[in-house]
Amino acid sequence: MFNSGITVKEHDEARQGEALVLDNQTGRNNGRKLYIESYGCQMNFSDSEIVASIMLDMGFTTTNTYQEADVIFINTCSIRENAEQRVRNRLKEFAVAKVRKPDMVVGVLGCMAERLKAKFLEEEKLVDIVIGPDAYRDLPNLIESVDGGNKAVNVLLSREETYADINPVRLTSNGISAFVSIMRGCDNMCSFCVVPFTRGRERSRDVHSIIKEVTDLYNSGYKEVTLLGQNVDSYKWTNEEGTESVNFAQLLERVALISPEVRIRFSTSHPKDITDEVLYTMAKYENICKYIHLPVQSGNSRILDLMNRTYDREWYMDRVNAIRRIIPECAISTDVIAGFCSETEEEHQETLSMMDFVQYDYAYMFMYSERPGTPAAKKFTDDIPTEVKNRRLTEIINKQQAHSKLRFEQQLGKVQKVLVEGLSKKSDQDFCGRNDQNAMVIFPVVENIKPGDYVNVVVERCTSATLIGKMV
Ligand code: SAH
Ligand code: SF4
Ligand code: F3S
Repeated sequence: MFNSGITVKEHDEARQGEALVLDNQTGRNNGRKLYIESYGCQMNFSDSEIVASIMLDMGFTTTNTYQEADVIFINTCSIRENAEQRVRNRLKEFAVAKVRKPDMVVGVLGCMAERLKAKFLEEEKLVDIVIGPDAYRDLPNLIESVDGGNKAVNVLLSREETYADINPVRLTSNGISAFVSIMRGCDNMCSFCVVPFTRGRERSRDVHSIIKEVTDLYNSGYKEVTLLGQNVDSYKWTNEEGTESVNFAQLLERVALISPEVRIRFSTSHPKDITDEVLYTMAKYENICKYIHLPVQSGNSRILDLMNRTYDREWYMDRVNAIRRIIPECAISTDVIAGFCSETEEEHQETLSMMDFVQYDYAYMFMYSERPGTPAAKKFTDDIPTEVKNRRLTEIINKQQAHSKLRFEQQLGKVQKVLVEGLSKKSDQDFCGRNDQNAMVIFPVVENIKPGDYVNVVVERCTSATLIGKMV
C-alpha cells in the first residue's frame, strides 16, 4: 500500500516554512474514525485529549472499538522497560486488525515515539506515523502525508509548545473531574529517568489559559480538576512584558478562587521544590485537596545523590514534618524505586525506615529498570540481581500495605466530604466518590443525590482499597 517515501522531521530545520493545512481537511476526513489508547502517566492521558481535539477539528469522530477504526493511535510510555513491552504487545494485536482492514493507519505517539524516532518504523512494520509529544499540531500534515502513501515522522521537541489554546476533548472523563496540564517537560535530570529526553525542556503554560480552562470546566458542570506537571512546584510563568509573574502557590490560589465548588488536586510535587508557601495556600483554601504526591525514590542519602534527586534523607523528612505541621490531615503518597545501582542492604533498610517515618497513604513501587541513554545507564552498572530487586520490592510493598491499612483504619468513625462520581463499579445500589485525601469512598445510593454533589459520609469499615460508609 505504501511507497517508500518517508517524511521525517527530527531536526529543527525541518520546521521552517511549515504551515498547518487545516482547510479542506474537514471534508476529506468526514466520518473517518479515530481510536486512541493511552499508556503511562496522567500527562499522556491529558495529551490524548489534545490529540483528539485536533483530530475532531479535522473531521474525525472517535470510536471505542479499534477494529472499526480508520486511524489507531497509541500514546506510549517509556518510563520502564515493561511499559514499552506492553505497547509492543498491543501493536501485535493492532497488526491483526490491520490485516483485515489494510487501509487502517497506525500511529505511535508520546514518549516511546520520541525515544525511538524513525527507528520505530523499521522495528514495527505496521506503524505509519511516529509523532513526539510536542508535534501534535502537525497531525493534519502527517495524516495527509500518510494518505498520500508515505510514512511520516515528527519528533521535534519544542521549548515553547504548551497547547495552551487547544480545548481538550474529555475522552475518559466522568463529567465531574478533569485533568488540566499546567506545564510540560522536565529539567531535573534524575539519573534513572527518561522523561527529560522524551518530553524535552520544562515550560509553564500561560496562567490565563489555565484559569480560562478551569472556569470553562466549572461552567460545564465539572467539580474537580487535577493540575498536571512532572514537577508542578517549579511552575513559573511570566508574561512577555515581564509585568506579571506567577509561581505555583499563586497559581493554586487563583484556581482555588474560581469557585469554592471546584476541588483542586495537583501532581507531581518534587521534594526539592515544594515550599511552605504552597503548604500554607493548601491550608488556607478548603477546596484545595489535602493530598500530596511526594516521590521519595529512596530513603538513603547516598542513593539519592546517585539518582541526582538533589535532596537528601534529612531534607525529605523536613518537608514531611512541614506538611504535618501546616496541614495535619494531609495524605501523602510516594514513588519508590527498589534496587537502584549499587544499593546495599543497609541502604534498602533506610527506604523501609523512611516509610515507617512517613506512613504513606499510598505508594507506587517499582524495581529499577535501566533506560538507554539516561545518565544512570551511562555512568553506573545495573548491578543488583533481579532476585534481590524483587525481594526488596516485595518488602517495600508489604510494608506499604500495612501502612495503607493503618491510614484507612484511622478514618473509621470519621465524617468525610465526598464528591459523588457515579455508581460504584461493583453495585448499582452504591455510589462512589473520593474524599479530600483521594481515598475512594463507597456508600448506599440516596434519593435526590447525583454525581457532582458533595455529601458527608461517615466511614464504618474499609477494605484494602476503599472506605465504606453511609451518608449523614
Ligand atoms: N516527575 C515525577 C516522576 C515521574 S515518573 C517525579 O519526579 O517524582 C514516575 C515514577 O516512575 C518515578 O517517580 C519513579 O519512581 C519511577 N521511575 C522513573 N524511572 C524509572 C526507572 N528507570 N526504573 C524504575 N522506576 C522508574
Ligand atoms: Fe524524571 Fe526526575 Fe523529571 Fe520526575 S523530576 S520526570 S523523575 S527527571
Ligand atoms: Fe511515561 Fe512519558 Fe509519562 S515516559 S510516565 S508517559 S512522561
